[in-house]
Amino acid sequence: MRRRVDEAAGSGRTEEKPVKAKKVRNVRERSSWRVWLKRTFLVLCVLYVASRVIPRLFPAFVQHMVYSHAILWFVDLSRPADLALNHTVNMYLSSEEGITLGVWHTVPEHKWKEAQGKDLEWYEKSLGDGSPVFIYLHGNTNNRAAPHRIGVANILSSLGYHAVVMDYRGFGDSIGEPTEPGLTTDALYLYNWVKARCKDSPLVIWGHSLGTGVATNLAVKLQEQGKPVDGVILEGAFNSLRLPEGFPHAFTWYYWKFPYIQFFFQDSMKNNKLSFPSAENLKKMTTPLLILHSKDDHLVPYWVAEELYSIAKTAMKSDDRVRLVLFDGSHGYLHNGLYRDPALPGIIRTFMKSLEV
Ligand SMILES: *[C@@H]1O[C@H](CO)[C@@H](O)[C@H](O)[C@H]1NC(C)=O
Repeated sequence: MRRRVDEAAGSGRTEEKPVKAKKVRNVRERSSWRVWLKRTFLVLCVLYVASRVIPRLFPAFVQHMVYSHAILWFVDLSRPADLALNHTVNMYLSSEEGITLGVWHTVPEHKWKEAQGKDLEWYEKSLGDGSPVFIYLHGNTNNRAAPHRIGVANILSSLGYHAVVMDYRGFGDSIGEPTEPGLTTDALYLYNWVKARCKDSPLVIWGHSLGTGVATNLAVKLQEQGKPVDGVILEGAFNSLRLPEGFPHAFTWYYWKFPYIQFFFQDSMKNNKLSFPSAENLKKMTTPLLILHSKDDHLVPYWVAEELYSIAKTAMKSDDRVRLVLFDGSHGYLHNGLYRDPALPGIIRTFMKSLEV
């Protein structure tokens, strides 16, 4: 078809040439566009069929997708200064045999100059400098370099606190297969590791999204061991037992980790459900608690936070040990963006002050 068009163009009379040449170009563009469309469609068909067939034939392939997801994000987590704050060190801890956890430790901002070129030992020692320490337990997908996680570490550091941010097993460059008990084990290990170094400095757990489930699991465990944590902050918290219709499936483990992959691998991942009983945990917790939630959160509606708040208040029989701060939906913070709120540093500082009394 293309050749015929070319010939027609070639035999045209001179005075009509400009018009014809333009037409020919149009026809050519249109036909090459069609070819491109056809090819894309074919490739998509092949990809779709492969995605249905391959996981069945090679379950190991699915595992590979899980383990290699750190590569998908194209960042070098061992160089936090390139990605985040220049007073941050990268380290690896082992919570169990065969498990390696990638961890970033950011020191208070006023120490940034002193921190340049310092080694692990200096950072470890600095945890005992008397400044409050935060352990940040992040949510689903991506790794400790995600902008909203760096954003929180940034705020904590600028307030003069330490921020310790971990990738659970299976996340980022951490090794192991993620499970709910596994995540709690990792968090407990990190807590004990930090506690041994920060001694009597205030130690607070900040959980976001999926991490709020890990945070309440951890807080209850520590309380049962007779060494309760000093404070807990829950941001974008969910309650797995009372999710709206349709949520339980969306909240399956692999959805949290790889929302874009779930489409292809639904069948093999259907059974991997979460529990994280935050509401049940809050009934037992006596730790001072701050709940943060944006009213326009599209993953967890804010009434979940209100419900958790009233559960915690009833359980603690106190109004001042639990605080709920809702952020106006007009800011567009959704599920991850609270760290951008100019009032947040003040809210955290007030919470830290309340721990002193
Ligand atoms: C390092 O970080 C501090 C605090 O965030 C900042 O003020 C400073 O300009 C940074 N220095 C360099 C060399 O990037």
